[in-house]
Amino acid sequence: MQIITIFLFVSASLLALAVNAEVYFKEQFLDGDAWKSRWVNSEHKSDYGQFKLTAGNFYGDAEKDKGLQTSQDARFYATSARFEPFSNEGKSVVIQFTVKHEQKIDCGGGYVKVFPADLNQADMHGDSQYYIMFGPDICGYSTKKVHVIFNYKGKNHLIKKDVKCKDDELTHLYTLILNPDQTYEVKIDNEKVESGSLEEDWDILPPKKIKDPEAKKPEDWDDRAKIDDETDTKPEDWDKPENIPDPDAKKPEDWDEDMDGEWEPAMIPNPEYKGEWKPKQIDNPNYKGVWVHPEIDNPEYTADAEIYKFDNIGVIGLDLWQVKSGTIFDNFLITDDVKEAEEFGNETWGATKGPEKKMKEEQDEKKRKEEEEKNKEQSTEAEEEEEDDEGDEEEEEDETEEPPEEEGDNDGLPKDEL
Ligand SMILES: *[C@@H]1O[C@H](CO)[C@@H](O)[C@H](O)[C@H]1NC(C)=O
Repeated sequence: MQIITIFLFVSASLLALAVNAEVYFKEQFLDGDAWKSRWVNSEHKSDYGQFKLTAGNFYGDAEKDKGLQTSQDARFYATSARFEPFSNEGKSVVIQFTVKHEQKIDCGGGYVKVFPADLNQADMHGDSQYYIMFGPDICGYSTKKVHVIFNYKGKNHLIKKDVKCKDDELTHLYTLILNPDQTYEVKIDNEKVESGSLEEDWDILPPKKIKDPEAKKPEDWDDRAKIDDETDTKPEDWDKPENIPDPDAKKPEDWDEDMDGEWEPAMIPNPEYKGEWKPKQIDNPNYKGVWVHPEIDNPEYTADAEIYKFDNIGVIGLDLWQVKSGTIFDNFLITDDVKEAEEFGNETWGATKGPEKKMKEEQDEKKRKEEEEKNKEQSTEAEEEEEDDEGDEEEEEDETEEPPEEEGDNDGLPKDEL
């Protein structure tokens, strides 16, 4: 009896959990071309790059791993999808998706933006106001970070911490959890990489305390830990010239005073020179320590327990710039349930990553072998040629090495976001 009661209770709780999970948006691109009716391309510019649906060059599952891929180099991309608007008031919100930079990305965004429902999708662009921007951004060797930007009262605020993103060619899962207690967590591949509080890790609100503008260091505040020893005096034989004539210098025999002027020996550093004399240092008996500027409550600061809250979340979009295209976005999820997101991550990225890696490694291995084969053939040919025209000078140079690719150094982010 007891056991059955407990069992029922546990099942009921599990059921309650499952029922409570709210999924606001989910997109896996599993229905062929139908995504085109859900995603709206912006027409703000006429030359946005095209997204195409593909699982890419290597994958875990040819169908399930299909996602939106950027398909043209050096383009801006802007597309978005709408869902039933909601507020995250009093609830956690999880924003999650997968990114695969299979092109060996050099410079480009891999992030999403979450917009208010009143966004005009057909006109979405870099300056369109968003609530949250989240995800990886890579440019050259220096920028490899995960952006977490929150809009607060019309202004965008970047996270102050440096959150590193993945820069390999495999699919990775990015998750942002935003909680009503104003804490957050960033996960990559279902593992926490950063967490903390909105107040501490962003300069969203002005600082709580500031230096008291009225307070001044007292004039007589002595903050010199050491002072000159007044009783110390300079030794009488201290002062010696810094340079002296070289005692070993000799006038050259052919020196002609009329022609060359008066002969003077070259100057050399004086070994007896002791430099500037300084008195010995002693502890300052009046030392009061370092003066600490007193702080006061910042009159500009007003606590706000609702920094995390966005009233009208209704659109998710990809608004990015890419130099080398080929990034695939997939498995978008917006939910209020952290466990649900983790599970969805496991079912999608988690199921894909193993076979995807295997396929990639097999392709790499095949390429390596082909390359080896080609090199072998080339060197045999070269040898044969050499044998053929003996006596000829060796002139064949290996020209296969490509020059290193140029790295752009702007970080691919529209100026307004910085
Ligand atoms: C997701 O997968 C990890 C690793 O296999 C596992 O530890 C975790 O419990 C899974 N999470 C859920 C919600 O299923």
